[in-house]
Amino acid sequence: MASRYAEVYAAWKADPEAFWAEAAQEIDWIKPWDKVFDASAGTYGRWFVGAECNTCYNCLDRHVERGRPGQPAIIYDSPITGSKATYTYEELLEHVQALAAVLQDRGVEKGDRVIIYMPMIPQAVMAMLACARLGAIHSVVFGGFAAHELATRIDDAQPKVIVSASCGIEPGRVVAYKPLLDDAIAQSKHKPSACLVFQREQEIATLIEGRDYDLGEAMDNAMSAGREVACVPVAATDPLYILYTSGTTGQPKGVVRDNGGHMVALKWTMKNHYDVDPGEVFWAASDVGWVVGHSYIVYAPLLHGATTVVFEGKPVGTPDAGVFWRVISEHSVVSLFTAPTAFRAIKKEDPNGKLIADYDLSSFRSLFLAGERADPDTIKWAEEKLDVPVIDHWWQTETGWAIVGNPLGLGMLPVKLGSPTVPMPGYDVQVIDDAGHPVPAGTLGNVVVKLPLPPSCLPTLWNADDRFRKAYLDEFPGYYKTADAGVIDEDGYLFIMARTDDIINVAGHRLSTGAMEEVLASHPDVAECAVIGVADQLKGQTPCGFVVLKSGVNRPPEEIEKELVGLVRQQIGPVAAFKLAVTVDRLPKTRSGKILRGTMRQLADGEEFRIPATIDDPAILDEIGEALREHGIGVK
Ligand code: COA
Ligand code: AMP
Repeated sequence: MASRYAEVYAAWKADPEAFWAEAAQEIDWIKPWDKVFDASAGTYGRWFVGAECNTCYNCLDRHVERGRPGQPAIIYDSPITGSKATYTYEELLEHVQALAAVLQDRGVEKGDRVIIYMPMIPQAVMAMLACARLGAIHSVVFGGFAAHELATRIDDAQPKVIVSASCGIEPGRVVAYKPLLDDAIAQSKHKPSACLVFQREQEIATLIEGRDYDLGEAMDNAMSAGREVACVPVAATDPLYILYTSGTTGQPKGVVRDNGGHMVALKWTMKNHYDVDPGEVFWAASDVGWVVGHSYIVYAPLLHGATTVVFEGKPVGTPDAGVFWRVISEHSVVSLFTAPTAFRAIKKEDPNGKLIADYDLSSFRSLFLAGERADPDTIKWAEEKLDVPVIDHWWQTETGWAIVGNPLGLGMLPVKLGSPTVPMPGYDVQVIDDAGHPVPAGTLGNVVVKLPLPPSCLPTLWNADDRFRKAYLDEFPGYYKTADAGVIDEDGYLFIMARTDDIINVAGHRLSTGAMEEVLASHPDVAECAVIGVADQLKGQTPCGFVVLKSGVNRPPEEIEKELVGLVRQQIGPVAAFKLAVTVDRLPKTRSGKILRGTMRQLADGEEFRIPATIDDPAILDEIGEALREHGIGVK
């Protein structure tokens, strides 16, 4: 089939408001908009101004009312605990109303914030939807973050209530969440008025009288009482959620997502980008703590009337590298979305893809990859072994959906390995130099999006309009800065090459080296430090910290290095995967004192590089090389 992409993209470009007004017909509105786009509102304009809606209604009630009550909404498959459960749309609505009733009992109202710190269990999805139902603003915090990170988010979002669980399960260990939650609340200035804790059989948490409540018990009571909670109308421009993501400092950025534009854009993507129909099973193997989880485990599939898989496990080891194929065949998944790192893990365990033959994958039509660069080897391996289109697409927490991709539903475009393909309607993607001038095709530069951003993209950062402008809008006036560097070729295909800031991507998880440096610098023996991301075969990148010790420190460096690894795990969390601290005498710097992190990374990755002309003392690079060799890092 010839692709309709060019025609659809041109239609959007010719009249963006008409394009999005038409897409918005797929959503049930309580009150229609006054303006599709109001350029005078917000920091760069707002979508669907004047409209009223409810995201939970669009995800659940309308499907129950209009033909899908008995269709599975959620399939929970947890190889790590051995449990499975299915919730139809009707059952999910009943559970969400019960959870909303429990939140109401704790005083949660429209506009209140609720932090959700939970593992991959259906109750996490229910909590998100219950907040949406009440017009409350949820902020999900990934379970792999430690107490300090949770505390930072509590202080920024100021939640009235926190919804959590007694534990998460990681391979070989039960992660008790409650002590982390208690520790976070002890560290934070803001105190929630209540915590709702879902008790899992693997670990029963001790509840604090007067503050903590047993969520499962309270939901059961609400359900037995037949409690019904109506959907609260909210403005299309009201926040649905805040999702914290790594910035360049230890203070994460609170990305705000609205209700109306978010629904319109996400619903559009399900058919046009992913080529999934209502009633089909879509699986995003991510975590609700990340944007992929928000958009493609929870909101988009449910808005579309599809079935979503909530998977609690890993691509390997739960129990083996065949678990993805087992889930696809058992639940008739038509499309899987995951990070390339998951496929690298599978490929490492089962290089010939032998386990695939054990399962019937006849339902399976496509694989989507995002979250980090999809390396050509991984794409080729997946294409060959699975015999379906493998589609790389590029996006960010800030946008909530793909900026650049290959729209399967409009007809697939030819794949160029290493490129996530072309801009989606809504995005005018350009590459410009540091002075803001367009660069010729094939030239590396800053990847930017011409304003306004399309529906679903962040209107601002939570309580931080100035930080939003400074971080994204000020450097290139009229454009949104993605902080990715890349190239657009003569055919309009984009290639993402690197971040332009100090964010690194570890196993598809976005992490700030700046935040890790803040932790290392807090150690009493550390004088200065630098953290870089070094290439890693499995995780894409892993962090490596260089530290210069204070003069007079006589303890063995190995002892301090071990403490530093422990400190990052304790302060940021295991997800940082910080396992390597290297003591050096000096850090390479420019004559003006700027640490040459880029050169250190090239050195660690064994890349050819030119010694920067501005370097203060080139001999330091030899010392760094030596230290890396001693720690087993591949320096040429
Ligand atoms: N709660 C508590 N701890 C968690 C956690 C959670 N929700 N998620 C991860 N962790 C811990 C892990 O147990 C691990 O701890 P360890 O240092 O004690 O081993 C650490 O954080 C790093 O986790 P992870 O990044 O998952 O690495 P891994 O080595 O355990 O597994 C992969 C490697 C490739 C299998 C894994 O990263 C993976 O499945 N990636 C898929 C990518 C993905 O989902 N990305 C999301 C964006 S699409
Ligand atoms: P996150 O906000 O966690 O989704 O991370 C967004 C960042 O991950 C982007 O700015 C990119 O640096 C990187 N990224 C995401 N998807 C891709 C992709 N398909 N190819 C290359 N980099 C990607």
